[in-house]
Amino acid sequence: MRYPRELIEEIRMQNDIVEIISQYVPLKQKGNSYFGLCPFHHERTPSFSVNSEKQFYYCFGCGASGNVYSFLMEMENYDFKEAVQALAERVHITLPKEELSGQALAMEQLKARLFEMHKLAGRFYYDTLQSEAGSYAKKYIGKRKIQQNVARKFGIGYASNQRQTLYDYLTQKGFSVEDMQKGGLVLPNKDGSGYHDRFRNRLMFPIFDAQARVVGFGGRILADGEPKYLNSPETPIFSKSRNLYGLHLAKASKRKEWILVEGYMDMISVYQAGFHNVVASLGTAFNADHAMTLKKYAEDVILLYDSDEAGTNAALRAIPVLVEHGFGVRVTQVPDGKDPDAFIKQYGNVAFSKLLVDAVHYISFEIACIKRNYNLDIPEHRVRFATEAAKILSGMESEIERNVYTAEVSRMTGVEESAIQTEIQKLQQKADTAYWKEAERKRIQKQKAYIAQDIEEKGVIDAQKNLLYLAANQRAVYDALQPILQTQDFPTTVYQKAWGYIGILWKQHDTVFPAELLNFFETTQEQQRIGEVFAAQPPTDTQFDLQKAVNEAVKVLKRAYIEKMSTQVKTAEEIQDLVEQKRNLDKLHITI
Ligand code: UTP
Ligand code: MN
Repeated sequence: MRYPRELIEEIRMQNDIVEIISQYVPLKQKGNSYFGLCPFHHERTPSFSVNSEKQFYYCFGCGASGNVYSFLMEMENYDFKEAVQALAERVHITLPKEELSGQALAMEQLKARLFEMHKLAGRFYYDTLQSEAGSYAKKYIGKRKIQQNVARKFGIGYASNQRQTLYDYLTQKGFSVEDMQKGGLVLPNKDGSGYHDRFRNRLMFPIFDAQARVVGFGGRILADGEPKYLNSPETPIFSKSRNLYGLHLAKASKRKEWILVEGYMDMISVYQAGFHNVVASLGTAFNADHAMTLKKYAEDVILLYDSDEAGTNAALRAIPVLVEHGFGVRVTQVPDGKDPDAFIKQYGNVAFSKLLVDAVHYISFEIACIKRNYNLDIPEHRVRFATEAAKILSGMESEIERNVYTAEVSRMTGVEESAIQTEIQKLQQKADTAYWKEAERKRIQKQKAYIAQDIEEKGVIDAQKNLLYLAANQRAVYDALQPILQTQDFPTTVYQKAWGYIGILWKQHDTVFPAELLNFFETTQEQQRIGEVFAAQPPTDTQFDLQKAVNEAVKVLKRAYIEKMSTQVKTAEEIQDLVEQKRNLDKLHITI
């Protein structure tokens, strides 16, 4: 459903764009504008501006632009409705209840049933653990040194050895077998004769979402066997590439630096040791969705992956994902190939806290990792290592930090600091050139896409943009154009729409505020194209002849239209009509 336009505008006005963007990007004020590093492309000097008066942002580097809604859509991957909902919630505006379409309603209802089912299943496993059947599993929990109160807090349970106890229980509670399968808790028997529980004879770790609802399970085998951990499959309420284990508890820590570990048991052990700001990614590589989930709560991350080769490689892969999402990243590892859980159990909480204190900047970790490939007793290796290290250092944003690590590499290799610095500068220049080339290539490609899509040229695009800008800026321009320009004169669909909306806004409130006009556009592509019209500065030259500009732009559009029609005419009358239109066009003069 659509929310009323007035409401959308009200929400937009109450959410100051500078405040919102500041939550993601540090901004510095310069007059009416604020500047920072663009979150939409990689850069070292700020070209991202936020205009408080216009309630608009614009990046001089990559051209990204828009209002507070388009910003959230880009940043959080929201669709328009989600952006409206998030900002409404922020300023405590209640949105009218949605009337969902049949399909969406069915999905919402299915999810509600799955949440309820998982809550009951979680309790069922918990009760089984407390029962006679759970005595062996309980001993196992003791052996893993999980304290009772902690086990309770995490809702740890036990799935018994029986084939279908959960299935029977959920059936008795009124759930359909279709829903049980959609929730991933029950599977059909191979011979087609009935159903059985997915999890059997496993220690059960409920997985909670941020709102502390059970959305899935991880089940650890108690004997030897495969797989060690069996997880819920992807379901409408659970995705292992988004959900993070322990999030609902960690978020209460209100810390800005979070510890990221690999496993269920690691998370629980670290939590039990008194460090509540910890989550685990679940049996899958840390990815952009995880980062986006984490970004809502944490600013910095301490990576604490297993110190075996797999863990080290996983950490090296997680680093760029975290860095790209703006986290400050430090890395620490447990000595002797242990995992954090085993370390805490053997050496205790104090030793563990030292490990955290000793966490190093991720660059330092990366350099240490590549260092293992070289024998620094060999001069040639020292040079190759220094060159490789320079490559890593060239990606570091802070000059101060870069200098610290440059000095470190210089000490390790005996290569002079200045030589490493020169190498770094060379690499940075190369990266910058590559970036600009890439940006240029994208611009050209985009332009080509526009042309292919709308079969028109740059002149026609510019004419449309200019007219929209001028007509939104001054009522007199709109009024002068209104009787002359028809919708068909705008060949580009998105501009055609904008022309109509500008008319609506003039009539309704006698002003056209670009940030409000943008409310009408609900896809990032459209927002981007309309944003471009208003984000760049208008010609400020006092010589700028408004009337001339308007006339020229109108003629470009009308001429293009006639030209297009002339390829399609069939009868003599139609040709006559076009000739007439062309003659009128020569005579046309708009006065403002
Ligand atoms: P590990 O194999 O390191 O397990 O896998 P662990 O955490 O040390 O397990 P314990 O201490 O022996 O109980 C790390 C994580 O990878 C996922 C789980 O999330 C696990 O916690 N995993 C591992 C699976 O999903 N399935 C598996 O079969 C194994
Ligand atoms: Mn372990």
